[in-house]
Amino acid sequence: MSQKKSPKIAKKVSDIPVQLESRIEQLALDAPCALPLNDADKAMLKTEIKALLKAQNAQIVAHFYVDADLQSLAEETGGVVADSLEMANFGAKSTADTIVVCGVRFMGETAKMLSPEKTVLMPDLDATCSLDLGCPADEFAAFCAEHPDYTVVVYANTSAEVKAIADWVVTSGNALQIVTHIKEQGQKIIWAPDRHLGDWIEKETGIEMLRWQGHCIVHDEFKTFELEAMKKEHPNAKVLVHPESPADVIALADVVGSTKILINAVKTMDAQAFIVATDLGIFYKMQQLAPNKKLLVAPTADKETACKSCAHCPWMAMNGLQNLASCLKNKTGEVLVDETVRLKALKSLDKMLEFSRNAGLVKK
Ligand code: 13P
Ligand code: SF4
Repeated sequence: MSQKKSPKIAKKVSDIPVQLESRIEQLALDAPCALPLNDADKAMLKTEIKALLKAQNAQIVAHFYVDADLQSLAEETGGVVADSLEMANFGAKSTADTIVVCGVRFMGETAKMLSPEKTVLMPDLDATCSLDLGCPADEFAAFCAEHPDYTVVVYANTSAEVKAIADWVVTSGNALQIVTHIKEQGQKIIWAPDRHLGDWIEKETGIEMLRWQGHCIVHDEFKTFELEAMKKEHPNAKVLVHPESPADVIALADVVGSTKILINAVKTMDAQAFIVATDLGIFYKMQQLAPNKKLLVAPTADKETACKSCAHCPWMAMNGLQNLASCLKNKTGEVLVDETVRLKALKSLDKMLEFSRNAGLVKK
């Protein structure tokens, strides 16, 4: 008699091979960070970009982790700076002819899949994400095929091809609500790719999922022991943690949530100091909204190991004023998605946006 695999055994099936882990690490090390510029060059490039945006009826859709100059430029020119959920929502509703996504590849692909009629550009198409890289579509499809009776839920930080396999796409801004909704329908869930986010969702919702074992190279580095020490040094500081961080770091948090939720916490909470466990690009918006509050980066190194990403995503750091100007001027970095893949992925993307709009998580 054939024995059914228990969820615990099946979880192991999704482990990421060592070679893929080292390839991801190498790509992160090799990612070319945008070059620093002096004030005069910055001013010149900003003027040029503003003119190009106007001439092309283009808008910038930027993530909270990119360089502060790009965030301010997006806001000054009628674009948006947002978490990945609101980036998708804003791009889908925009009436611009061209969307320039300052962020990472999956964000550009999502914008293109939701708005195929628009030109979607990125300053550098090689700006990727360790979660996306750690979940190759063919291997993930084989994993899902082994469990045909499961509902497939994937994080937005995945390729268009992986989204095309999914029943639902979620972000950290709606994952709890969507997984709760699926659980209430009595469905079993395959979750990919972030292991820590999956772990947190399991704890919060009480559902056990078959999980892929991907991780974010930035959030995976936050250190519990050192964070505890920092908390002792700053006893009145509140701890804000993105759920891509390890479970023992999340356990020390006062607030866990998407980048938008963490920014809102700095603005609305009574505390005067915050220890922040996420990419430090977020400090620009936090400081803008709460200029008198003290912000501390949560530790990413311990006694034995130096930090690698040091709380800054190497792929987000590829976005700069120079390559932003160049993609608009030369129409380079255009995001294209195969139409068959797009149509499959669109179903789960549309479902995510509709759910989020109805739940009041984003503007209708
Ligand atoms: P948010 O959806 O919270 O903005 O997160 C995206 C991301 O890539 C975090 O590392
Ligand atoms: Fe991906 Fe992590 Fe970078 Fe976010 S911070 S884009 S999850 S590698």
